Amino acid sequence: MLNRFVLASVLTASLAVPAFAAPLPKPPIFGVCGACHKVEKGAPNGIGPNLWGIANTKAGEVPGFAFSPAMKASKVKWTRANLIAFIQEPQKTIPGTRMPFAGLKNPTSAAQIADYILSLK
Ligand code: HEC
Repeated sequence: MLNRFVLASVLTASLAVPAFAAPLPKPPIFGVCGACHKVEKGAPNGIGPNLWGIANTKAGEVPGFAFSPAMKASKVKWTRANLIAFIQEPQKTIPGTRMPFAGLKNPTSAAQIADYILSLK
């Protein structure tokens, strides 16, 4: 009985993985990014690039945004792991980035933001 319940919960949890769903609700912690980044499809770039649709693209590819040479040359792909690393330590992950943000060290918050960004498609 218990095992069946646990299995059912695990299955339900895996169905909640973002990959094929609509965008996740914006987590409140995204507020630390929102001053510089828009996230709606077709929204203009701000101080930072619009983050819609960057999941699994290469760094520095958002159209119309003047990226730093460091970002463009980095060849970093925006996977979940790379997003989390960049959110936690932007300057260490992409040395020379012009993103003026010290980093959000909390791993849970960083993962929450990464999952949200990955769902924007
Ligand atoms: C004060 C403004 C500012 C804040 C706050 C900020 N960013 Fe940025 N972000 C930028 C700028 C500017 C760039 C471009 C950096 C470059 O070209 O080196 C950038 C680049 C990025 C990129 C690379 C996009 C791409 O396609 O290459 C990601 C991802 C990103 N930011 C995510 C975040 C997240 C997530 C947060 C919050 C945890 C955040 N940023 C907070 C200004 C900001």
